[in-house]
Formats: sequence, C-alpha cells, structure tokens
Amino acid sequence: MTEIAREAGALLLGYFRAHVAVEYKGEADLVTVADRESEKLIRSRIRQYWPQHDILGEEEGFTDTGSEYRWYVDPLDGTTNFAHGFPVFCVSLALEHKDARIAGVIYDPTRDEMFAAEKGSGAYLNHQPIRVSGTATLAESLVATGFPSHKRHKNPNIFFYHQISLHTHGVRRAGSAALDLCCVACGRFEGFWEFNLNPWDTAAGVLIVEEAGGKVTNFSGCPFLLDSRETLASNGLVHDALRAEFDKIFTAGGLSPLPDVREYRR
Ligand code: IPD
Ligand code: CA
Ligand code: CA
Repeated sequence: MTEIAREAGALLLGYFRAHVAVEYKGEADLVTVADRESEKLIRSRIRQYWPQHDILGEEEGFTDTGSEYRWYVDPLDGTTNFAHGFPVFCVSLALEHKDARIAGVIYDPTRDEMFAAEKGSGAYLNHQPIRVSGTATLAESLVATGFPSHKRHKNPNIFFYHQISLHTHGVRRAGSAALDLCCVACGRFEGFWEFNLNPWDTAAGVLIVEEAGGKVTNFSGCPFLLDSRETLASNGLVHDALRAEFDKIFTAGGLSPLPDVREYRR
C-alpha cells in the first residue's frame, strides 16, 4: 500500500509543479487531471496485485466484485489547495475486510511524509511509531476542521469554528481532511472535526488516529461509522470537552455572540 501511495504521490507532485488546469465538478467543486490520473494509477496497481478486491474511489465510483475486501481511494485529498498551488494535499488509501478497517496509508508528497497503520500494530510516520498528544485541556489545544467545497450555505460549521476558536489555541483549516487526521495521530493537533465527509476522506485517517491511541466518534460520542457524516477525532483526552462544546452549540445555550461588525468598525 505504501508503495502505491508513494507512486501516486510522485505523480501528483509532477502535475503540481506543472500547474495543471482546473475543471469544475460542480459550483466550487474542483477536479484536475491529477485527481483522475492518480486514481487510474492506484486502481491499476490494486488490480495488478489483488484483482479480486472491491474498490470505492472518489473519481471512478464503486467497482464491486463481491469480494470481502474493499479499498477506499482518495487519489488527491486537498484538490482546492492543489489547484491553487498551496502545498497541502495527499493520497489516502484504506483497506477493509468484512466491514473492518485493517490498513490505512496517507502520503504527503510535498513533505515526503508516509503515515501508515495496520489494525492492532500501531501507527507510523516514515517508519517511526507515532502517538497522539498528551495535552489534556481544550484551552491548551490546537485543533482543526474543514468546510465542504460545495453546498457551503447548508453547512453550520462557521458557528463551530467561532466557538471552538474562543476555547482553544486556535482552529486550523488547512484543506485536507486526511492530513488533518494524521496531524491528530502524530500529536500536532489535539482534535479535528468535520461535517459530511465521505468514506474515502476518512477511512485511512480514522484507523491511523485509532492506532496512534486516539479516539474517533460521531458528534454524539457514538462509534464512528464511515457513513455517519460526522467525524470527531481527538487524542482522547480532550474528546469529552470538545463534545460538551458541540452540545452547547447544538442547543445554542452556550453560544458566544459574534461581534457586531458595524460596531467593531466604529
Ligand atoms: C476535501 C478535503 C477538505 C475537506 C472537504 C473534502 P477533496 O477533499 O478533505 O479538507 O474540507 O470536505 O471534500 O475534495 O480535496 O478530495
Ligand atoms: Ca477528499
Ligand atoms: Ca479527492
């Protein structure tokens, strides 16, 4: 899996340096030749080594052969960054057996960082074991989130962004959910959340966080499912505090009001 991710990452880097043209899948939903060529390469390698396996990939959809094994492929996570020349993007590959995630690999070609985890064997960054951070309070945490590239008007995350910013060292929005999860796994971030991610965004990263000693649930604290549309990952220590903030926001009881812009300007 790491060999495939490295090969796909090298392909992405080639296109990144050549400044490829951007196309639109939908309003503000970008795609490039790099997304498609990366998925083509990954699929051909999977077919070469494991011809029976099912594959769900973002660009080509689901190939169902009735196998007990299923791959989740995000050939380029962070397409908007990629298209603008902002160097935060990666390849994300996960393998599931009978509905259980057994392996995940995320490769960031710009930093040459290979994150990898196998169920029960821990998580690694470039072969070195990684662990979530030991920070236990939200007030000392750096956390991350993301916003969907389309249907933004239907997403309430700006309220969460504001509220959590007031209670932490800050909220980063770097533009690659898979790398955000890796940053939780290796202790750079204490937590990460996002609404409406797809299985190819989360499948590998969730396993990497769990194998690094972290926790992943939905916003109610129930076990994370690939189709649950809510992802809350943390080092485990600040999980309940984050959830408590979320509960306050959902019930609007503890919301700090946004400053009045006209008053601020005056
Ligand atoms: C996107 C990135 C982004 C997240 C979006 C995803 P894509 O994936 O992970 O960080 O906020 O929700 O759709 O489209 O670049 O593969
Ligand atoms: Ca993605
Ligand atoms: Ca993608």
